[in-house]
Amino acid sequence: MKKRVTKAVFPVAGLGTRFLPATKSVPKEIMTLVDRPLIQYAIDEARAAGITEFIFVTSRGKSALEDYFDHSPELEAKLRKDGKTELLEALENTYMESGAIAYMRQHKPLGLGHAVWCARRLIGNEPFAVILPDDVIAAEKPCLQQMVEAYEETGGCMVAAMEVSNEKTSSYGVLDPKEDMGSIVSTRGMVEKPKPGTAPSNLAVIGRYILTPDVLHNLNNIEPSAGGELQLTDAIAMEIEAKREVYGYRFRGQRFDCGSKAGFLQATVAFGLAREELGAEFGDYLREMVAMRNAAQ
Ligand code: G1P
Repeated sequence: MKKRVTKAVFPVAGLGTRFLPATKSVPKEIMTLVDRPLIQYAIDEARAAGITEFIFVTSRGKSALEDYFDHSPELEAKLRKDGKTELLEALENTYMESGAIAYMRQHKPLGLGHAVWCARRLIGNEPFAVILPDDVIAAEKPCLQQMVEAYEETGGCMVAAMEVSNEKTSSYGVLDPKEDMGSIVSTRGMVEKPKPGTAPSNLAVIGRYILTPDVLHNLNNIEPSAGGELQLTDAIAMEIEAKREVYGYRFRGQRFDCGSKAGFLQATVAFGLAREELGAEFGDYLREMVAMRNAAQ
């Protein structure tokens, strides 16, 4: 029987330079879409998929992330006294059971592969998930849950995948599909950030992974590649070379690249419009804005 996936790694050591100066003192993962930080979306998705152990790979300057998941007795006492039950409930989701969350430092920014490798002892010998909180996915059924269900059928390694335009392939890990079965695609290779015009397909890897412990062993043996970094993609590709299956999973949902300013703004608009208490007013405002812009042109 396949072992259940109960651990997830969250690589959150990045400096977030694209959001300077904000990220000078605020970790990128604490930046908020409406009223929830990016990391909360990632945690909620992991929980929905049955994850019970959360491993953060952090770096210097990320203590706000650790505090975020801590209890805040004064705040709670005040909210309780004021009868603010809704806000108390919102806080509930930020708490982690003692022992369910671990922080591991990545001492040098050597790449995503290295970040996951830093967590190897906490993962041990079992399949695990990786969630990149920059990739926010709005979906009826959370993306990782869709993947866990598909993985229960397939086993092996599985990466979230999405079609991107030719010009964009060089920003992603890209799959070389073997057999396309609709939502599941078997692969014969994958390459990190292929040079323009050399991508094996348009099927890009998005930041959700279910990986076997073999990938951790492979991480011991990879060399720096794209961007001079140790790439997770290369360690997964080694599984394919070893004749073990790696699947792409076309998830149902909309992905926002919250690692970029444009993507972050798009996500803010989409999540704002989706909120019951904000959607109508915000929608009216956006319509007005667009009308004014059109009139001025
Ligand atoms: C990382 C991965 C890449 C993947 C991307 C998805 O790249 O290395 O394979 O396609 O996330 O967001 P990054 O965006 O961190 O450069």
